[in-house]
Amino acid sequence: MGDPPGQEQRGLRKGLTTYGDAGFSLFLRKAFIKASGLSDDAIDRPIVGITNTYSDFNPCHGNVPDLIESIKRGVLLSGGLPMVFPTISIGESFAHPTSMFLRNLMAMDTEEMIRAQPMDAVVLIGGCDKTLPAQVMGAASVDLPAIVVPTGPMVVGHHKGEVLGACTDCRRLWAQYRAGSIDVAETELISGRLAPSVGTCMVMGTASTMACILEALGLALPMSATAPATQADRRRIAEASGRRAAEMAISAGPTPDQLITAASIRNAMIVLQAIGGSTNGLIHLIAIAGRAGVKFDLEAFDQLGREVPVLLNLKPSGEHYMEHFHQAGGVPALMRELSPLLDLQAPSVSGGSIGDAVAAAESVSGQNVIRSLAAPLKQEGAMAVLHGNLAPGGAVIKQSAASPHLMRHTGRAVVFESVEDLTTRIDSPDLEVSAEDILVLRNAGPKGAPGMPEAGYLPIPRKLARSGVKDMVRISDARMSGTAFGTIVLHITPESAVGGPLAAVQTGDRILLDVEGRRLELMIDDAELQKRLAAWKQRPPRAHAHRGYAALFEEHVLQADQGCDFDFLLR
Ligand code: FES
Repeated sequence: MGDPPGQEQRGLRKGLTTYGDAGFSLFLRKAFIKASGLSDDAIDRPIVGITNTYSDFNPCHGNVPDLIESIKRGVLLSGGLPMVFPTISIGESFAHPTSMFLRNLMAMDTEEMIRAQPMDAVVLIGGCDKTLPAQVMGAASVDLPAIVVPTGPMVVGHHKGEVLGACTDCRRLWAQYRAGSIDVAETELISGRLAPSVGTCMVMGTASTMACILEALGLALPMSATAPATQADRRRIAEASGRRAAEMAISAGPTPDQLITAASIRNAMIVLQAIGGSTNGLIHLIAIAGRAGVKFDLEAFDQLGREVPVLLNLKPSGEHYMEHFHQAGGVPALMRELSPLLDLQAPSVSGGSIGDAVAAAESVSGQNVIRSLAAPLKQEGAMAVLHGNLAPGGAVIKQSAASPHLMRHTGRAVVFESVEDLTTRIDSPDLEVSAEDILVLRNAGPKGAPGMPEAGYLPIPRKLARSGVKDMVRISDARMSGTAFGTIVLHITPESAVGGPLAAVQTGDRILLDVEGRRLELMIDDAELQKRLAAWKQRPPRAHAHRGYAALFEEHVLQADQGCDFDFLLR
């Protein structure tokens, strides 16, 4: 018997395995799915795929089994059939050489598993830094309705009467240890208190940044970004997302490419600036836009940095944590403050518009987490994009977490050739360095390291840290964790490993950083710069880069201004 009109490619009938006989393929598929004990009624329902990114190596996803239960309940309540399937999971501090190296692999895995298996909609459960961007990059490359469910932030920790957050306080306290003000025994104690529950880092790191901008993009239900991982709100949001996914499976929309538009990307840029978001968020947003075929305008993003103040009083730019943001009304309340700047007509996965979520946002009197445009936390946005002879393709600085006295600074370059060189020499008593110098790290970009490590937060040399120096200008082609702070220029493009001007800097050169003027200049004349670049020699490829994924990465990864995606994956 034939299928009803329009139902031919739905549910179990989608994407049949190729045996040369479609009827046999469906017969076989039914026979095997019935091995799970499913009834004919169940397997005739619209199918909602649910990505399972649980991993013992990823405590930020420790609540995924609970979320899956809630999502399944929501799918069943709306008449769908939930089908859970595994994908790669990436835990930030467990991935070698870097999680960024693996992001595109996870995006490819997610994309191909969504495409390969019969489902009518998909729920993407992610959280730890690279997972949500990878999942959305993958899903945006498939024309299938998708909804994001972040795992949610951890609750805060406490130590000696002080509130602690991973990982802004990880860095601050480690800096205290390096400066000699706390000892090893105390670091052991603190390591048990910085991350007191499952869930993602509860400051405005990359995970929180991505959850917020995906909600702003309309890819997740309102309040999805902020509900703590361990609270009942998180599970109710998961159930509601499952319900919505089943509805989307039935109505065949909206698909990610209908939600990721020039208007919603601009909304996300505004939110990224206003939350004091992670610089990694910029790379991921560029990559997501690229997968949806939306051109990302870095200059427009920089201009928004001048117009959109930081409104969110959260670490590392401010003082609070994600659970406080949730209690203050979350992303919808933040977007209400930003509404004069936003396109409120942009559609949401909820079925309404971003404006609907803003209209329903809670008003919490007396809260000090979400500031207004009239009384912002910082007058300008989180990030500025720099240009100059050192960064022809651009570089980025998180100005909201930088030191005001270093925003215009000229200093002597102290160059480190690589992350290994940095590790070897940074604490040497023989290192010639002063607080006014500019620390330069190269060969730490997308191809150089490889995988663009979060090494841009170069430690203050121990001898300076011990004399009380807390910040210096540091520049590199690396990335930095969103939880970090300091006057740190990142993502210098093109990177030194492909012959960018960063490769030509010598210790003793003078460098100008002028954030207000958006300049990063190597203060040598152009003829000298060109002479040095002409003499530059590419490093031989690393031994491990001759085969497998490493070879693919080495050959195809794009620079930071193109989101570090693979060239063959852009739409
Ligand atoms: Fe997973 Fe911070 S380490 S979100």
